[in-house]
Amino acid sequence: MSDAVVSAEPMLEVSGLTVDFLTDDGLLHAVDHVTFGIARGETVGIVGESGSGKSVMSMAIMGLLPKSARVTGSVKFRGQELLGASERDLQRIRGSEIAMVFQDALASLNPVHTVGAQVAEAVAIHQELKGSELRNAAIALLDVVGIANPSARFEQYPHEFSGGMRQRAMIAMAIANDPAVLIADEPTTALDVTIQAQVLEVLERIQQRTSTSIMLITHDLGVVAGVADSVMVMYAGSQVERGSVEEIFYESRHPYTKGLLASLPRMDRRVDKSDRLHQIEGQPPSLVFLPTGCAFHPRCPFAETPGACDGEVPALQVVGDGHYSACHFPDRIGSDEGMKS
Ligand SMILES: Nc1ncnc2c1ncn2[C@@H]1O[C@H](COP(=O)(O)OP(=O)(O)OP(=O)(O)O)[C@@H](O)[C@H]1O
Ligand SMILES: [Mg+2]
Repeated sequence: MSDAVVSAEPMLEVSGLTVDFLTDDGLLHAVDHVTFGIARGETVGIVGESGSGKSVMSMAIMGLLPKSARVTGSVKFRGQELLGASERDLQRIRGSEIAMVFQDALASLNPVHTVGAQVAEAVAIHQELKGSELRNAAIALLDVVGIANPSARFEQYPHEFSGGMRQRAMIAMAIANDPAVLIADEPTTALDVTIQAQVLEVLERIQQRTSTSIMLITHDLGVVAGVADSVMVMYAGSQVERGSVEEIFYESRHPYTKGLLASLPRMDRRVDKSDRLHQIEGQPPSLVFLPTGCAFHPRCPFAETPGACDGEVPALQVVGDGHYSACHFPDRIGSDEGMKS
């Protein structure tokens, strides 16, 4: 993560990734031309409100979307195109090269099998281990993710694990085959703050061991601050800003990111009870009936309407070295002026 060595070698290259679903109301634009890359050993934070397309995007990368999804663009792993690859190739890559901790992780452990059996099964999919070797490999994984007394825990059932421990077990399953890329979809959301920090530490430790590239999905910009190298902010299926953690936190050039930042609790800001944290007013739009122009304009304190903001979809433009913003007026976003409070 921030202090890990990030190499320039791209592991995952996503470009123009677009996902539409045909629904009864019409075409739902879940992901719209998203482009980013993850280098070896890099952690990319993917941030956005509920419904912004974070999970759909990661399922598209994994090739796990239902047939009703129309997926276009390109997803390359070590230069190999995954979109349209055969199910056989995808099965080989999934789990061994690109693994995912699913958002509903706590629900995806099977209650009738021991945790150990499930971790062992994840190992056995890609490695030919049996008997005590397989058991030892699974116990070692429980140890790696920080589960104390792993051989006793191996025998226990999911209901005997706390939420944080179940999340660790899910991470153990995801890293069972030392994947090059780990996608973690909201791995800390259901957990309290202390356990959240511990789970993030586990991810950091895994990364330092094997230079794993991590895609960390969260709706909480605060979570990515300490662990990500770069950040992509999504709004209504589109990428609105992308840059290094420092640029996103200190030099954000998109009003939506600014709004997310303003709603973070801060140590250096006194919050009395009558002063609720700053919130972005309004709701995200329907992905079937997107507003004209910039999808964020109805909630944007800077929007010029009628004008560019409701007239034209803003293109992602370079606003700094490796820093991109999809705003018509990125130069106005430097200061806090104009932000609703
Ligand atoms: N199978 C599907 N068919 C139709 N629409 C879908 C399907 N799966 C997801 N969607 C829609 O795609 C949009 C993006 O959903 P997604 O789950 O990616 O959001 P998210 O950013 O992960 O949100 P959250 O933070 O709540 O997890 C939503 O409007 C969702 O209803
Ligand atoms: Mg999600």
